[in-house]
Amino acid sequence: MKASKGWWLLVIVSIGVMSPFVAPYLTFDPGNSRVSMTPSSLQFPLLVAHIGTACVALISGFFQFLESIRIKAPKLHRNLGRVYVGSVFLSGGIALVYLFYVDNFSKAISFLVLAMIWIYTCWKGYRTALKKRFAEHRKWMIRSFAVTLVAVSARLLVPFLLLAYAALHRFSLPGGRMMMVEEVLNVNIWVGLLVNFIVVEWKILKPKKDSLTE
Ligand code: HEM
Repeated sequence: MKASKGWWLLVIVSIGVMSPFVAPYLTFDPGNSRVSMTPSSLQFPLLVAHIGTACVALISGFFQFLESIRIKAPKLHRNLGRVYVGSVFLSGGIALVYLFYVDNFSKAISFLVLAMIWIYTCWKGYRTALKKRFAEHRKWMIRSFAVTLVAVSARLLVPFLLLAYAALHRFSLPGGRMMMVEEVLNVNIWVGLLVNFIVVEWKILKPKKDSLTE
């Protein structure tokens, strides 16, 4: 199984960034949750189910971009593809229900838009594969996986956004540290979504010069 350096870098960075966020939920103890929980509600089970299925999407998604699997083992590619699509629909669907527990409106809307784009791009990727329109299938699945990776890029961006916040307030932090973190967590999903969108549409899926002049 041959993988490029870029692929390995993305896998290592994604696992490195996501592990500390996922780990507290592997204990299945609401007391270890990083976000505040409504006691005796469905909130914690929903969050654990979202995280579990999202991890399956992230891991299965990585394997779909290995040429060796796609070309030499198309059946495995199809089966892993079904796992990816199923886990995105489940995880995105659960996130839509979980939103009713998110108090902060800005944060809830950013997750709502993210979940809808996640489900839509994955649905397009799935439909184009069923219709055997493989060039379009490739594009939609790259878009879908870029949305999956917003979970990683949005978290990676947090230190830079904290720095931007502090710099824009001339390092005086008027509302204190808590306010700074809250404000950053209200915008990091949008910035992550935009950065991933730009990388995918302008770098990876950019039409080749020849096809523009044809
Ligand atoms: C791309 C679509 C996704 C959407 C719409 C989404 C939505 C959400 C929502 C609404 C929360 C709760 C946040 C809160 O209550 O403050 C959450 C938390 C979480 N999600 Fe996702 N998520 C997505 C992708 C992923 C992926 C791919 C992973 C990878 C494993 C993931 C892992 C997590 C983790 C670990 C948490 C807990 C965060 C914490 O404790 O701070 N999510 N997600």
